[in-house]
Amino acid sequence: MTDTPADAERTRVFSGMQPSGEAHLGNYLGALRRWVAMQEEYDCIWCIVDDHAITAGGDPVELPGHTFDLAVSFLAVGLDPERATIFVQSDVPEHTELAWLLNAVTPVGDLERMTQYKDKSQRFESVPAGVLNYPILQAADILLYKAGAVPVGEDQRQHLELTREIARRFNATYGETFPEPEALIGQAGRIVGLDGDAKMSKSLGNTVPLLAEPDAVWERVRTAVTDPQRVRLSDPGRPEHCNVFSLHRHFASEEELEDIATQCRAATRGCVDCKRILSDHIADAFAPYRERAAHYTAHPGEVRDILEAGAEKARTRAKETLREVRSRMGLDWRRALEG
Ligand code: AMP
Ligand code: TRP
Repeated sequence: MTDTPADAERTRVFSGMQPSGEAHLGNYLGALRRWVAMQEEYDCIWCIVDDHAITAGGDPVELPGHTFDLAVSFLAVGLDPERATIFVQSDVPEHTELAWLLNAVTPVGDLERMTQYKDKSQRFESVPAGVLNYPILQAADILLYKAGAVPVGEDQRQHLELTREIARRFNATYGETFPEPEALIGQAGRIVGLDGDAKMSKSLGNTVPLLAEPDAVWERVRTAVTDPQRVRLSDPGRPEHCNVFSLHRHFASEEELEDIATQCRAATRGCVDCKRILSDHIADAFAPYRERAAHYTAHPGEVRDILEAGAEKARTRAKETLREVRSRMGLDWRRALEG
């Protein structure tokens, strides 16, 4: 695929997701749904950031499958290789090269101030440098394509601010090169997991997998924690204190929501029945995605071809930026041969 003339005029958008396997409801409501919609309007680049996934080691046996499964999730929900560039980060080594170059304009103090770094580094006795340098690679991802906008969740705001700072410093030191990308923070906020407490996250085991069959969706949703004060069926519930109700908001019509809330408050419907409604809604809403996913799982060669074509397209753009950056930094010794 080549850049259409329209690409040059549309704002370029970049975002990435780490391959921790099949996407879940939080990924969908918080990110993917929005990415799909943005393809209408923007020149989008969607990246599976496997180089990010190894910043603190990781499992080399699991990673290839996780990367493939996330690619299937991307395609299943409607990220569209005809309209966007979809690829795997490690297929475009320019990401890691630019990250190295950006090390030169990134103060260690700025990296140490990152909240995510402070959280993550506590889990290690000896902190891998990758955990500290993670945001430099993220800045490289974005700046490599001179993206103007980056749709991310609230938790990434600080990393985006650092990306802008890195762009400013680079431009000030070596000449105007990078636009400062704007963070497009999603409205969905934090989707709470089935434990009713923490952010829905694969590592916490509190997710609803996006592509699960209806039975498997029910297996998960039936475990969801509801209003803790509603112990017996006859206790009136409080929808505003129930995570299942929060999830209903994303799937039920206004009328249904009204009914769900009323029956909950009056204790005329139990939590199990209420969860059943949610489970059915989720399974129905994602039926077309399951169908598409089944197709790609049965035809893995198609996924490979899409990712390889995406990487090639990304690489063409990436090489251009890198040539410019290397030259600005003096990494073009042949210039010494010129008179
Ligand atoms: P992660 O799986 O944490 O790498 O996140 C990938 C993308 O999904 C990011 O843009 C997150 O903001 C979004 N995301 C992940 N989990 C949630 C959640 N529980 N609520 C909202 N957005 C989420
Ligand atoms: N750090 C992001 C996350 O954990 C993933 C990511 C890597 C990213 N590179 C990016 C997001 C570039 C936006 C742009 O969700």
